[in-house]
Amino acid sequence: ASDDLAAQFDQIVADGARIEPRDWMPDGYRSTLIRQIAQHAHSEIIGMQPEGNWLTRAPSLRRKAILMAKVQDEAGHGLYLYSAAETLGADRADLTGKLIEGRQKYSSIFNYPTPTFADVGTIGWLVDGAAICNQVPLCRTSFGPYARAMIRVCKEESFHQRQGYELLTTMMRGTPAQRRMVQESVDRWWWPALMMFGPPDDSSPNTAQSMAWGIKRHTNDELRQRFVDMSVPQAEALGVTFPDPDLVWNAERGHHDFGEPDWSEFMEVVKGNGATNLERIAVRRAAHEDGAWVRDAATAFAAREQEDDR
Ligand code: 3HC
Repeated sequence: ASDDLAAQFDQIVADGARIEPRDWMPDGYRSTLIRQIAQHAHSEIIGMQPEGNWLTRAPSLRRKAILMAKVQDEAGHGLYLYSAAETLGADRADLTGKLIEGRQKYSSIFNYPTPTFADVGTIGWLVDGAAICNQVPLCRTSFGPYARAMIRVCKEESFHQRQGYELLTTMMRGTPAQRRMVQESVDRWWWPALMMFGPPDDSSPNTAQSMAWGIKRHTNDELRQRFVDMSVPQAEALGVTFPDPDLVWNAERGHHDFGEPDWSEFMEVVKGNGATNLERIAVRRAAHEDGAWVRDAATAFAAREQEDDR
């Protein structure tokens, strides 16, 4: 019987159809999805911090309202993704524990500081732009609940990217100091944004299997290239440059050639030695501990409700 089930699983994946929670699936398929979805969810939740840093200091009510909506969206994206992980048998409290104890990852991009307000725009434009490049293909990932969560996330992500780009166009029409602030921010975020797509394909232990299982629809390098090609005309329209002397259009390839990200920096940041790793986890730990009384109260209330129902 298990041969039939395995054959059925392979056929569904081969047809580009969806695997649902109750379908048989290889243990490895389940565990790599829990790994990726949990880390994706952790990224959304930690990603609230860099921008949240500007909520009380936004330069206008309009910018504050937009930023509030965006940070709130990120919390919701984390919620959808933890829920998708739960359909695979993961436990949300356990996943949060793994994040706080450094036993599960979140995206390297959120370990960089946000010293100026232009960073709010650059994160929207480049970080959410990279996230869109990565998440649109995930709308077709082979695991149903993950794909469906991505459809809602992508709709909200395009608002995130547009508001960031609009913020930067406004600043670029401002004073020379504002224009310099935008360029200085872009110089800091360009290379970390390229690292969001993961290590090069030839040093990515998970890509081959994830492609075979239809979890990934493109490799890390393919999506990174797509992001570079998409961003160059946007930078030209904005009037900023990217800090890469090797970035140039290659007519033969029909793509832009670009320099090599600093993979040693990437490994250090992923290992926890980035500029703000400790702060990000400390803030997440404090929020979790400060919220314990809410969880206890909700659990006690649910237990009493059950008593009353008996
Ligand atoms: N930051 C931290 N860790 C990273 C990373 C990054 N940018 N890129 C890769 N890694 C880790 C991987 O998790 C893996 O470690 P693990 O086996 O312990 O999990 C290791 O480095 C090797 O990388 P692989 O390429 O082999 O791993 P994957 O096949 O999982 O590919 C990925 C990495 C492309 C990030 C993939 O996991 C993925 O597409 N995840 C879903 C998208 C996601 O997580 N995006 C986060 C961006 S932030 C975001 O979307 C929020 C938005 O609102 C801005």
